[in-house]
Amino acid sequence: MKIIIVKDSKAMGSEAARLIARRMLQNPSLVLGLATGSTPIGTYQHLIRYCEEGLISFKKVKSFNLDEYVELDAKSPLSYVSFMQEQLFSKVDMDEKNWNIPDGNAQDLEKEALDYEEKIKKAGGIDLQLLGIGGNGHIGFNEPGTDFASVTHSTDLTEETIEDNARFFNSKEEVPTKAISMGMRSIMNAKEVLLLASGSSKAKAIKGAVQGPITTDVPASILQLHPNVTFIVDEEAARELRR
Ligand code: GLP
Repeated sequence: MKIIIVKDSKAMGSEAARLIARRMLQNPSLVLGLATGSTPIGTYQHLIRYCEEGLISFKKVKSFNLDEYVELDAKSPLSYVSFMQEQLFSKVDMDEKNWNIPDGNAQDLEKEALDYEEKIKKAGGIDLQLLGIGGNGHIGFNEPGTDFASVTHSTDLTEETIEDNARFFNSKEEVPTKAISMGMRSIMNAKEVLLLASGSSKAKAIKGAVQGPITTDVPASILQLHPNVTFIVDEEAARELRR
Protein backbone atom coordinates (compact mmCIF):
# COMPACT_ATOMS: atom_id res chain seq x y z
CA MET A 1 0.00 0.00 0.00
CA LYS A 2 1.43 3.32 -1.03
CA ILE A 3 0.20 6.44 0.80
CA ILE A 4 0.84 9.85 -0.70
CA ILE A 5 -0.03 12.74 1.61
CA VAL A 6 -0.52 16.07 -0.15
CA LYS A 7 -1.32 19.53 1.17
CA ASP A 8 -4.93 19.94 0.10
CA SER A 9 -7.68 18.70 -2.22
CA LYS A 10 -6.28 20.70 -5.13
CA ALA A 11 -2.95 18.92 -4.90
CA MET A 12 -4.80 15.60 -4.53
CA GLY A 13 -6.63 16.22 -7.82
CA SER A 14 -3.49 17.02 -9.79
CA GLU A 15 -1.47 14.15 -8.31
CA ALA A 16 -4.27 11.68 -9.11
CA ALA A 17 -4.70 13.01 -12.66
CA ARG A 18 -0.97 12.61 -13.30
CA LEU A 19 -1.10 8.97 -12.21
CA ILE A 20 -4.16 8.24 -14.38
CA ALA A 21 -2.65 10.07 -17.38
CA ARG A 22 0.56 8.03 -17.01
CA ARG A 23 -1.45 4.81 -17.12
CA MET A 24 -3.38 6.05 -20.19
CA LEU A 25 -0.13 6.79 -21.98
CA GLN A 26 1.26 3.36 -21.10
CA ASN A 27 -1.95 1.72 -22.30
CA PRO A 28 -4.26 3.74 -24.61
CA SER A 29 -6.93 1.00 -24.33
CA LEU A 30 -6.99 1.22 -20.55
CA VAL A 31 -10.07 -0.12 -18.75
CA LEU A 32 -10.82 2.52 -16.15
CA GLY A 33 -13.05 2.11 -13.11
CA LEU A 34 -14.60 5.49 -12.32
CA ALA A 35 -16.13 7.06 -9.24
CA THR A 36 -18.62 9.83 -8.50
CA GLY A 37 -18.91 12.18 -5.51
CA SER A 38 -17.21 15.52 -4.96
CA THR A 39 -13.77 13.96 -4.41
CA PRO A 40 -12.81 13.05 -8.03
CA ILE A 41 -14.12 16.28 -9.64
CA GLY A 42 -10.73 18.05 -9.52
CA THR A 43 -9.05 14.98 -11.01
CA TYR A 44 -11.57 14.92 -13.86
CA GLN A 45 -10.93 18.62 -14.54
CA HIS A 46 -7.21 17.97 -14.95
CA LEU A 47 -7.89 14.99 -17.23
CA ILE A 48 -10.20 17.15 -19.38
CA ARG A 49 -7.44 19.75 -19.71
CA TYR A 50 -4.82 17.10 -20.59
CA CYS A 51 -7.22 15.81 -23.24
CA GLU A 52 -7.86 19.29 -24.68
CA GLU A 53 -4.11 19.82 -24.85
CA GLY A 54 -3.70 16.56 -26.75
CA LEU A 55 -1.59 14.90 -24.06
CA ILE A 56 -4.01 12.01 -23.55
CA SER A 57 -6.97 10.54 -25.41
CA PHE A 58 -10.01 8.61 -24.21
CA LYS A 59 -10.80 7.30 -27.72
CA LYS A 60 -9.87 3.72 -26.91
CA VAL A 61 -10.49 3.86 -23.18
CA LYS A 62 -13.35 1.82 -21.71
CA SER A 63 -14.86 2.83 -18.41
CA PHE A 64 -17.01 1.20 -15.76
CA ASN A 65 -18.56 3.28 -13.02
CA LEU A 66 -18.78 1.90 -9.53
CA ASP A 67 -22.40 2.53 -8.79
CA GLU A 68 -25.76 4.21 -9.40
CA TYR A 69 -28.82 5.04 -7.34
CA VAL A 70 -31.83 2.76 -7.72
CA GLU A 71 -35.08 4.26 -9.06
CA LEU A 72 -33.73 7.75 -9.61
CA ASP A 73 -34.61 9.03 -13.09
CA ALA A 74 -31.43 8.71 -15.17
CA LYS A 75 -32.19 12.22 -16.48
CA SER A 76 -32.16 13.70 -12.97
CA PRO A 77 -29.09 15.92 -12.61
CA LEU A 78 -28.37 13.94 -9.44
CA SER A 79 -28.11 10.54 -11.12
CA TYR A 80 -24.56 9.28 -11.49
CA VAL A 81 -25.06 9.04 -15.28
CA SER A 82 -25.79 12.78 -15.38
CA PHE A 83 -22.87 13.45 -13.05
CA MET A 84 -20.42 11.57 -15.26
CA GLN A 85 -21.68 13.21 -18.45
CA GLU A 86 -21.40 16.64 -16.90
CA GLN A 87 -18.07 16.12 -15.14
CA LEU A 88 -16.18 14.05 -17.72
CA PHE A 89 -17.76 12.18 -20.62
CA SER A 90 -19.15 15.18 -22.55
CA LYS A 91 -15.85 17.02 -22.22
CA VAL A 92 -13.38 14.41 -23.46
CA ASP A 93 -13.06 12.45 -26.71
CA MET A 94 -14.78 9.40 -25.28
CA ASP A 95 -17.01 7.18 -27.40
CA GLU A 96 -20.48 6.77 -25.84
CA LYS A 97 -20.40 3.03 -26.41
CA ASN A 98 -17.28 2.74 -24.30
CA TRP A 99 -18.62 3.99 -20.98
CA ASN A 100 -20.70 1.86 -18.67
CA ILE A 101 -22.76 2.64 -15.58
CA PRO A 102 -25.05 0.13 -13.87
CA ASP A 103 -28.72 0.86 -14.66
CA GLY A 104 -30.52 1.67 -11.42
CA ASN A 105 -33.84 1.63 -13.27
CA ALA A 106 -33.49 -1.87 -14.71
CA GLN A 107 -36.64 -4.00 -14.31
CA ASP A 108 -34.56 -6.87 -12.98
CA LEU A 109 -31.75 -5.50 -10.82
CA GLU A 110 -30.29 -8.92 -10.14
CA LYS A 111 -29.90 -9.57 -13.86
CA GLU A 112 -28.50 -6.07 -14.40
CA ALA A 113 -25.89 -6.74 -11.69
CA LEU A 114 -24.88 -10.08 -13.21
CA ASP A 115 -24.71 -8.57 -16.72
CA TYR A 116 -22.58 -5.67 -15.45
CA GLU A 117 -20.09 -8.03 -13.83
CA GLU A 118 -19.99 -10.04 -17.06
CA LYS A 119 -19.33 -6.89 -19.14
CA ILE A 120 -16.35 -6.04 -16.92
CA LYS A 121 -15.01 -9.56 -17.42
CA LYS A 122 -15.49 -9.37 -21.19
CA ALA A 123 -13.55 -6.09 -21.27
CA GLY A 124 -10.62 -7.97 -19.71
CA GLY A 125 -11.15 -6.68 -16.16
CA ILE A 126 -10.45 -3.24 -14.73
CA ASP A 127 -6.88 -1.98 -15.11
CA LEU A 128 -7.17 1.00 -12.79
CA GLN A 129 -10.03 1.57 -10.35
CA LEU A 130 -10.52 5.07 -8.98
CA LEU A 131 -12.23 5.28 -5.58
CA GLY A 132 -13.49 7.86 -3.14
CA ILE A 133 -14.43 6.82 0.38
CA GLY A 134 -17.54 7.38 2.48
CA GLY A 135 -17.29 8.82 5.98
CA ASN A 136 -18.11 5.33 7.28
CA GLY A 137 -15.39 3.70 5.16
CA HIS A 138 -17.66 2.58 2.30
CA ILE A 139 -16.28 2.22 -1.22
CA GLY A 140 -18.67 2.33 -4.16
CA PHE A 141 -21.89 1.75 -2.23
CA ASN A 142 -20.47 -1.17 -0.28
CA GLU A 143 -21.67 -0.18 3.15
CA PRO A 144 -20.20 -1.54 6.42
CA GLY A 145 -21.08 -5.22 6.77
CA THR A 146 -20.93 -5.95 3.01
CA ASP A 147 -19.49 -9.39 2.30
CA PHE A 148 -15.88 -9.23 1.08
CA ALA A 149 -16.83 -11.86 -1.54
CA SER A 150 -19.60 -9.70 -3.06
CA VAL A 151 -19.76 -8.83 -6.75
CA THR A 152 -22.07 -6.24 -8.37
CA HIS A 153 -25.34 -6.20 -6.42
CA SER A 154 -28.20 -3.98 -5.30
CA THR A 155 -28.03 -2.73 -1.76
CA ASP A 156 -29.68 -0.55 0.90
CA LEU A 157 -27.92 2.65 1.87
CA THR A 158 -27.18 3.29 5.55
CA GLU A 159 -28.72 6.21 7.40
CA GLU A 160 -25.24 7.82 7.60
CA THR A 161 -24.73 7.66 3.83
CA ILE A 162 -28.24 9.00 3.16
CA GLU A 163 -27.48 11.92 5.50
CA ASP A 164 -24.03 12.50 3.91
CA ASN A 165 -25.48 12.51 0.40
CA ALA A 166 -28.49 14.68 1.34
CA ARG A 167 -26.29 17.74 0.65
CA PHE A 168 -26.75 17.14 -3.08
CA PHE A 169 -30.58 16.86 -2.85
CA ASN A 170 -33.26 19.33 -1.69
CA SER A 171 -33.96 17.24 1.39
CA LYS A 172 -32.96 14.00 3.05
CA GLU A 173 -36.30 12.48 2.00
CA GLU A 174 -35.34 12.81 -1.67
CA VAL A 175 -32.17 10.71 -1.36
CA PRO A 176 -32.73 7.25 -2.83
CA THR A 177 -32.47 4.52 -0.20
CA LYS A 178 -31.09 1.88 -2.55
CA ALA A 179 -28.24 1.62 -5.03
CA ILE A 180 -26.61 -0.85 -7.39
CA SER A 181 -22.88 -1.13 -6.83
CA MET A 182 -19.85 -3.10 -7.87
CA GLY A 183 -19.04 -5.43 -4.99
CA MET A 184 -15.98 -5.76 -2.82
CA ARG A 185 -14.59 -8.56 -4.96
CA SER A 186 -15.23 -6.60 -8.17
CA ILE A 187 -13.09 -3.80 -6.71
CA MET A 188 -10.38 -6.14 -5.39
CA ASN A 189 -10.19 -7.76 -8.86
CA ALA A 190 -8.96 -4.49 -10.39
CA LYS A 191 -5.27 -4.69 -11.30
CA GLU A 192 -4.57 -1.35 -9.63
CA VAL A 193 -6.57 0.78 -7.20
CA LEU A 194 -6.31 4.51 -6.56
CA LEU A 195 -8.24 5.87 -3.57
CA LEU A 196 -8.65 9.59 -2.97
CA ALA A 197 -9.75 11.39 0.18
CA SER A 198 -9.71 14.95 1.36
CA GLY A 199 -10.98 16.82 4.40
CA SER A 200 -11.33 16.03 8.09
CA SER A 201 -14.68 14.24 7.59
CA LYS A 202 -12.68 11.38 6.00
CA ALA A 203 -9.94 11.18 8.68
CA LYS A 204 -11.58 8.38 10.68
CA ALA A 205 -12.33 6.32 7.57
CA ILE A 206 -8.74 6.75 6.30
CA LYS A 207 -7.29 5.74 9.67
CA GLY A 208 -9.47 2.60 9.68
CA ALA A 209 -8.74 1.77 6.04
CA VAL A 210 -4.96 2.14 6.35
CA GLN A 211 -4.06 1.21 9.91
CA GLY A 212 -7.12 -0.47 11.37
CA PRO A 213 -7.96 -4.17 11.41
CA ILE A 214 -9.22 -5.66 8.14
CA THR A 215 -12.92 -5.83 8.83
CA THR A 216 -16.22 -5.54 6.97
CA ASP A 217 -17.06 -2.78 9.51
CA VAL A 218 -14.68 -0.58 7.48
CA PRO A 219 -15.08 -1.85 3.90
CA ALA A 220 -12.03 0.04 2.56
CA SER A 221 -9.76 -1.83 5.04
CA ILE A 222 -9.77 -4.80 2.62
CA LEU A 223 -7.53 -2.71 0.36
CA GLN A 224 -4.65 -3.50 2.75
CA LEU A 225 -4.64 -6.88 0.99
CA HIS A 226 -4.60 -5.46 -2.55
CA PRO A 227 -1.20 -5.91 -4.24
CA ASN A 228 -1.21 -2.57 -6.06
CA VAL A 229 -3.01 0.22 -4.25
CA THR A 230 -2.21 3.90 -3.85
CA PHE A 231 -3.99 6.30 -1.49
CA ILE A 232 -3.68 10.01 -2.24
CA VAL A 233 -4.99 11.90 0.78
CA ASP A 234 -4.69 15.48 1.91
CA GLU A 235 -3.28 16.51 5.28
CA GLU A 236 -6.71 16.83 6.90
CA ALA A 237 -7.82 13.37 5.82
CA ALA A 238 -4.44 11.99 6.98
CA ARG A 239 -4.49 13.65 10.37
CA GLU A 240 -5.35 10.51 12.37
CA LEU A 241 -2.67 8.36 10.73
CA ARG A 242 0.25 7.23 12.85
CA ARG A 243 3.35 8.37 10.99
C1 GLP B 1 -20.96 8.17 -2.52
C2 GLP B 1 -20.37 7.27 -3.61
C3 GLP B 1 -18.95 6.85 -3.30
C4 GLP B 1 -18.15 8.07 -2.89
C5 GLP B 1 -18.73 8.66 -1.63
C6 GLP B 1 -17.98 9.87 -1.11
O1 GLP B 1 -21.57 7.47 -1.50
N1 GLP B 1 -21.15 6.11 -3.84
O2 GLP B 1 -18.40 6.22 -4.44
O3 GLP B 1 -16.81 7.70 -2.66
O4 GLP B 1 -20.07 9.05 -1.93
O5 GLP B 1 -18.42 11.05 -1.72
P1 GLP B 1 -17.67 12.42 -1.69
O6 GLP B 1 -16.51 12.29 -2.60
O7 GLP B 1 -18.67 13.41 -2.22
O8 GLP B 1 -17.28 12.67 -0.29
